[in-house]
Amino acid sequence: MNPLPLPDLSARLRPPITSITAYDYPTARLCDEAGIQLILVGDSLGMMVAGYEDTTSVTLEQMVYHTSIVRRGVKRAIVLADLPIHTYDNPGDALASARRIADAGADAVKLEGGREQIPQVEAIVGAGIPVCAHLGMLPQRVREEGGYKKKGRNESEARSLVDAALALEAAGAFAVVLESVVADVAAEITDRLTIPTIGIGSGHHCDGQVRVVHDVTGGFPWFVPPFAKTHGDVAGVTRKALSAFLEEVEDSHRTGFPE
Ligand code: KIV
Repeated sequence: MNPLPLPDLSARLRPPITSITAYDYPTARLCDEAGIQLILVGDSLGMMVAGYEDTTSVTLEQMVYHTSIVRRGVKRAIVLADLPIHTYDNPGDALASARRIADAGADAVKLEGGREQIPQVEAIVGAGIPVCAHLGMLPQRVREEGGYKKKGRNESEARSLVDAALALEAAGAFAVVLESVVADVAAEITDRLTIPTIGIGSGHHCDGQVRVVHDVTGGFPWFVPPFAKTHGDVAGVTRKALSAFLEEVEDSHRTGFPE
């Protein structure tokens, strides 16, 4: 286990923080070479790699494997990896799971939830592993919540998000991901915290932005969230290359391969 010491990690996050998910070696290496600051081995790999409907069946073993292959592709960026669902239900489990992920090469771990996660955050940070919190829409709770919903729409939800963010900062989190939080509430949290906020679907006032890599590159054409801006057409390029290969094999079958 060799996680980055917290002060080094915090010093390397310079707003505007750029963060992208990666689940494999070539993507991680391309992100690192492009200068992305924070590479997230997200449990979104449940959908983007494994084809599940949500993140709720991702296991610790899968996160350990993907973290280890991402690690091999990264020289400069910080590698952050998700603790999957039910691997941090109490402080002891949280620390044991975080150690497995750190041993696989993560510099830091991320977990979802508010005040109820404070003992878990304290246990992990106390053992020297930096923790990123995750507030707002919590994908690991999508089934209980009956879908992906915007958070902070009313005053009591907004207050509880701000309180939770302050409490997680006090517990030692080095950053907070804000997912699908009303932009004004995300702006207030960003103003009130000293640690950075990293937004996804939460407006442009956060200290940085995180996106799922396929949403940025156009690598998952079957679903793109409404807030995501796609900057490429990886699916289109792949389809074209595959058609060219099909044609090449069919042609060569008819005419023979060139020697
Ligand atoms: O798993 C993931 O990709 C995430 C991002 C959506 C922040 O947690």
